Amino acid sequence: KIIVLDYGSQYNQLITRRIRELGVYSELYSNKISAEEIRELNPKGIVLSGGPGSVYDDHSPQIDEEIFNLDIPVLGICYGMQLMAKQLGGGVEQANHREYGKATIDVKETSSLFQALPDEQIVWMSHGDLVTEAPNGFVVNATNPSCPIASFSHETKHLYGVQFHPEVKHSEHGNDLLKNFVFNACECDGEWTMENFIDMQLEKIREEVKDRKVLCALSGGVDSSVVAVLLHEAIGDQLTCIFVDHGLLRKNEADDVMKMFEEGFNINVIKVDAKDRFLSKLSGVSDPEEKRKIIGNEFIYVFDDEADKLKDMDYLAQGTLYTDIIESGTDTAQTIKSHHNVGGLPEHMQFDLIEPLKTLFKDEVRKLGEELGIPEHIVWRQPFPGPGLAIRTLGEVTEEKLEIVRESDAILREEIKLNDLEKDVWQYFTVLPGIQSVGVQGDERTYNHTVGLRAVTSVDGMTSDWARLPWDVLEKISNRITNEVNGVNRVVYDITSKPPATIEWE
Ligand code: XMP
Repeated sequence: KIIVLDYGSQYNQLITRRIRELGVYSELYSNKISAEEIRELNPKGIVLSGGPGSVYDDHSPQIDEEIFNLDIPVLGICYGMQLMAKQLGGGVEQANHREYGKATIDVKETSSLFQALPDEQIVWMSHGDLVTEAPNGFVVNATNPSCPIASFSHETKHLYGVQFHPEVKHSEHGNDLLKNFVFNACECDGEWTMENFIDMQLEKIREEVKDRKVLCALSGGVDSSVVAVLLHEAIGDQLTCIFVDHGLLRKNEADDVMKMFEEGFNINVIKVDAKDRFLSKLSGVSDPEEKRKIIGNEFIYVFDDEADKLKDMDYLAQGTLYTDIIESGTDTAQTIKSHHNVGGLPEHMQFDLIEPLKTLFKDEVRKLGEELGIPEHIVWRQPFPGPGLAIRTLGEVTEEKLEIVRESDAILREEIKLNDLEKDVWQYFTVLPGIQSVGVQGDERTYNHTVGLRAVTSVDGMTSDWARLPWDVLEKISNRITNEVNGVNRVVYDITSKPPATIEWE
């Protein structure tokens, strides 16, 4: 495998993912890992990711210098390259201009990294500092007017650095460059597949759990369904799933999920009706982060209570994905929002966690689900956040507001299905922003709620664009909502991408 050391770029997991797409297993590790620990992991290559810091800043993450003496190929990207330059005696300085976006580089001296790639190529730059002097024995491979050392290498030591970001699609030959690193420099065989991932996880789960018992938090969404099926395959009846109806689910969802698991799988699922607990804890709370944390905590308390009843549960399994972790903030990445299953966890828990999907992106989980033989309608369900309708009911959550979100959401989903748009749109839902406006219905003045429609396209949830839904479909949805949902006199369509917005409104 190839390991990627995390220096804090929001997109650094993209590197691991691109490498996995090449058929080589790759995982992200903390930059605090020592050379000794790496030696034990025995990877075929190491990538140092980009990051927002400056290598000369005392607070910026560093590297165990011995890593460069392990005789394992290393590719430094952006900050990673600067770190390599600094540690090995080169020079790094602040650039005159920060450079963001497209740039063209000239490849002057080829290396195994640029093998068979054109001399001139478009790359994606995003940096403040620059390498101004290559360390002894290094060759400068590529240049650009504002970045004279855009890439360097020490071929016999298998050390490589690029100032640009090969992991983003905007770098024209970024993928080819990674391919060269993985296959030429690291000599990987490219035979890894999702099937290997399943085998690896089954083995890992069995080894860890042994004859103990696991409780799985099942939401009926893709992620937790995949985790449940994976665990069931690994440990059979040592697994019990808990499905919590927190009163923040979509219309008919609780019944649908229970039916799906009873009929479709042979998995033991207990449904817990916890609506009152959640709603009373949320009463009077309007801050989004606070709401998320309350819900995250309450989930765990409910599991605690159920586990007490079931006795001897040692593990809690969750469908946490990489996106949840990175957005909730890590050692190096900023918090965007606390996903209920990450930032919401209380400090003292009676369970150890099992999170077999935490290195994957949503589309990879779907592939995994298909590989596990999970039916298409589950694998392709649109994502639904753990905090449910609570984060689509902006501000304080009340039964009355939830009803509006639930009913309008049901109409939107029905129309998307009727118009066969389910696979074109990644996620679609309604929100209640909590504003009221003046309208006229049946000759009477109204002062009622506005409902927002959100429909987005995305591959992995990290970035997204608003879906260009046909106007007549939007019209029909708007008509139906104002006619069929009490207390609504206006419907708006959210036309913001992510970034700058997020997909959910809270
Ligand atoms: P955002 O709103 O951050 O959402 O752009 C990205 C994707 O993650 C989902 N999401 C969550 N999923 N727990 C989850 O399981 C959460 O707390 C949570 N918050 C957002 C969101 O629906 C979208 O698919």
